[in-house]
Order: sequence, then structure tokens, then C-alpha cells
Amino acid sequence: MTGSSARAGADNRLRGIAVCSGREWRYGVAVNLRSITYTSLARLDLDAADLQAIHATAQRENARRNITGLLIFNGTHFLQIIEGEPEPLAQLVENLRRDPRHRGLEVRHDTPIDERSFPDWSMELVQVSAARREARDTVRKRLPDGLPDGVRNRVIRMTEQISGTVAL
Ligand SMILES: Cc1cc2nc3c(=O)[nH]c(=O)nc-3n(C[C@H](O)[C@H](O)[C@H](O)COP(=O)(O)O)c2cc1C
Repeated sequence: MTGSSARAGADNRLRGIAVCSGREWRYGVAVNLRSITYTSLARLDLDAADLQAIHATAQRENARRNITGLLIFNGTHFLQIIEGEPEPLAQLVENLRRDPRHRGLEVRHDTPIDERSFPDWSMELVQVSAARREARDTVRKRLPDGLPDGVRNRVIRMTEQISGTVAL
């Protein structure tokens, strides 16, 4: 467990949130959860310090808002999965759309979920190659055990899409 997920756990106990067989409950009422996946194009001059700053903000703010997920970066494109309650997620998407560090944000998948796919990751950063096969292999290795096949296959397929070169 990372420091930020340990903090998220402590925050959740204060907010009355409990997790039982994957499903989340707040004071005995099931919490509504959504999962949103988007891709975007990084600002041309984005550097390692920018990436580190994005990751630090994501981990800190997501732990506060009970948002979890995965951020994949291949040097030119982002692929991010964010999961949490609808209202903080919508707020985050608004922030993301205004963020000048990337552009062309396109939501690729948006669905209600019963349980989180990445409950221990307030935001895990996975840096991959711009080459399709290497990118796919890196992501495969980093995805958590026990991830449902549908989610695993979607993440791998979309990673291949952002890292694939087009033959003309
Ligand atoms: C690719 C990318 C991913 C980001 N992921 C998150 C995230 O998961 N959570 C988050 O709070 N901010 C994330 N940010 C930063 C937000 O865009 C924004 O800066 C942050 O929510 C603070 O917004 P505010 O300064 O308008 O309050 C990300 C930014 C980029 C460029």
C-alpha cells in the first residue's frame, strides 16, 4: 500500500466510508461510483518536472476526493482512468479540460461501476514507450492482479492505440 492510499483509507474512515467485497458504503448506504477513461495529447514541451508535478497533484487531490485510478504516459499522449463518485469526477474532468499541460481530451469510456478496479492507487503513473509492443508489455506487467479481464483488455487495447504508429 502506498502512503497516499494509506492516507485515503484513514480519510475514508473519517468520512464513514467502508468497503465490503469491493462495494463501497457510506453510513450503510451504497456509494454511487463511475469510471471515466480519456485520452489526451501532452503539451509539446512537457518535461519530467511537469509530469512529476501532475502526478503529485493527482495523488494529493485524489486522496482528498476519494478518486482512484491510473495515468499512462507514452511521451506524447496521456491515457487516464479515474474512478470515484460522480460529482468529484465531473469536477476533475472540468479541471482537466482547462489544464494547459495537455489538449484534445476525449472521453473514451464512461460508465457506472459497482466497485473500483484500482482501489489502492490514488493515481498510479505508468510511463511507457511510444512503440506499441513495448508499451503493451510494460502496461501488462504493471496492472494489478485480480483486475477484471474486461478492464485489463481495454487498458491494454487503448495503450496500443495511443502508442501505435500509423502506416500510410
Ligand atoms: C494528464 C493530467 C492528469 C491529471 N490528473 C489529475 C488527477 O487525477 N487528479 C487531480 O486532482 N488533478 C489531476 N491533474 C491536474 C488537474 O488538471 C488540475 O490541475 C487539478 O485538478 C487542480 O485544479 P485547480 O487548480 O483548477 O483546482 C491532471 C493534469 C493532467 C495534465
